[in-house]
Amino acid sequence: MREYEVECIRCGARYSKDDIVYTCRKCDGLLDIKYDYSEIDTERVVKAKGEGVWKYRVLLPFDQETKPVTINEGNTPLYRCDRLAKSIGIDDLWVKHEGLNPSGSFKDRGMTVGVTKAVELGVKGVACASTGNTSASLAIFAAKVGFPCYVLLPKGKVALGKVAQAMMHGAKVFSLKGNFDDALRVVRVLCEEEKLYLLNSVNPYRLEGQKTIAFEVAEKLDWEVPDRVILPVGNAGNISAIFKGFSELKTLGIADSVPKMTGIQAEGAKPIVNAFKEGNSEIIPEDKPETIASAIRIGNPVNAAKALTAIRDSGGVAESVTDDEITEAQLMLARLEGIGVEPASAASFAGLKKLVQMGEIERDERIVCITTGHLLKDPERVIRICEPPKEVDADVDVVREMLK
Ligand code: F0G
Repeated sequence: MREYEVECIRCGARYSKDDIVYTCRKCDGLLDIKYDYSEIDTERVVKAKGEGVWKYRVLLPFDQETKPVTINEGNTPLYRCDRLAKSIGIDDLWVKHEGLNPSGSFKDRGMTVGVTKAVELGVKGVACASTGNTSASLAIFAAKVGFPCYVLLPKGKVALGKVAQAMMHGAKVFSLKGNFDDALRVVRVLCEEEKLYLLNSVNPYRLEGQKTIAFEVAEKLDWEVPDRVILPVGNAGNISAIFKGFSELKTLGIADSVPKMTGIQAEGAKPIVNAFKEGNSEIIPEDKPETIASAIRIGNPVNAAKALTAIRDSGGVAESVTDDEITEAQLMLARLEGIGVEPASAASFAGLKKLVQMGEIERDERIVCITTGHLLKDPERVIRICEPPKEVDADVDVVREMLK
């Protein structure tokens, strides 16, 4: 039996693993899965066989016998990016392309664990609010096990590829007249009242899957953790999860430090950056978040408390970037390294570039940027920022002339 507790990060209240609970019933604090690390054999982490999320099942909240609901998520490439590094005057840059997960985003890592838990709990259906990627991933996993799946998307604010996935895989898709924060508020009540299982990142099981990003990064670098990890922040689950993963490696004595967790938000949606800079432990929600990076157009991130701890305890920073900086970074990733990402993902590199210019990041730091979603998620944005194809006659001389 894999022993663990579900514990409130604020008041320490504990819940059993059969309890369907997302935030603390006593104080509304976020929940975390707690293991007894003295029971975990570090060799089973370092020498684990297999690939992807379930390779690290010794650090996941399931028995050895549990059959995972999996679509072969994880095991994404970690690219060394010398051209990109040189372009901004740093020496040691890596990009982990989470857009190469089966659904095209890192969400699959959380969903494989979350939906496996849903099966264990015997729920009757699953639901989420989403800026797009969560819904795409959940729809796929739900299809795999035959769960009814309900997704609430902010009307007109979700990139085309993501809606297409949710629709194609059979989710019941609602276009909600409101933003993501409204959708999350509505779906949380709905899940309570209609006995659907909520699979947003407030669900602590989701983050257990996502923390495996840290394990893969560390393993690829021969268990030497990088100095810094940079990633976009929206609902703030992923930065919390990756911090947890690195912290576990340190607790287990596998790594001797935790990278500086560096969270990047868009200028028009930056409650965490504000709280970080003002030294506050709580965010002030933003009513009208706005950015072209629709995945992170979020004004009231549910995991803010965990994310602020991750950033502060690791000695990292939070910074914001403009939409123009995001677009420039998206083009640089695509054209200097061949890494095709959606706008939100490019915020990581845009933030890195800005922090280097500000003198906040040392030239010789080993840095890993996490690119969270694939380019094809948001084809409409590509069409807006790239030169359109030129129409030509089917004639060699005409085409040759146009090469000039
Ligand atoms: N990058 C992409 C591509 C995302 O889809 C998201 C979140 C983030 C970054 C931010 O991650 O929320 O853990 O801080 N997308 C969610 C969704 C909100 O509904 O798909 P976070």
